Amino acid sequence: MRRIYLDHNASTPIAPEVAAVMSETMDVAYGNPSSGHWAGSPARERVETARAQVATLLGCTPGEIVFTSGGSEANNFALKGMFYRSRRSRPHFITTAVEHPATTAPLRFLARQGAAVTWLPVDGTGRMDPDDLRRAITPDTVLISVMRGGPRGLDRDRSLLSGIFWRRVLEREGAEDDPEKAT
Ligand SMILES: Cc1ncc(COP(=O)(O)O)c(C=O)c1O
Repeated sequence: MRRIYLDHNASTPIAPEVAAVMSETMDVAYGNPSSGHWAGSPARERVETARAQVATLLGCTPGEIVFTSGGSEANNFALKGMFYRSRRSRPHFITTAVEHPATTAPLRFLARQGAAVTWLPVDGTGRMDPDDLRRAITPDTVLISVMRGGPRGLDRDRSLLSGIFWRRVLEREGAEDDPEKAT
């Protein structure tokens, strides 16, 4: 039987050039990057170079890049981070009905802690209706968490979604007291 591997989103064979850099790094920069001594500094240098490179790739600043061990840690970090830093009495999250358990489990946990969570339906191609999203956003919305599952079309979705969110934020700016701004 011929097998075809279709789970590259979850894990993929490493590119030889990446394996080469990693192997060399483990040889020559094995120190703890948080240690200020001679062994830590080269490791820190490499981490910061990687951070700057990833930031350039994503079009953001290096300070916005946080390296984690994987998807579950990253999702928990982002969702719980937004909940616990919010000064709103009931921070509101929006997501879809088809997210990975690494998103749904922390959201269910936060709902038990007092968060409001809106689960938007999706169509046959897995996409939400942007009008549903527009209607779902409230002044308490702190985060919209939507899985990106593929190329091109979903890039459009990403900018569309952030566009909708920021327009709503700007619309309400100045119109009401925003507890988030007090932080
Ligand atoms: C969309 C999505 N989110 C989160 C995860 C969890 O990632 P990890 O296994 O790195 O914790 C996966 C894993 O396949 C995933 O596909």
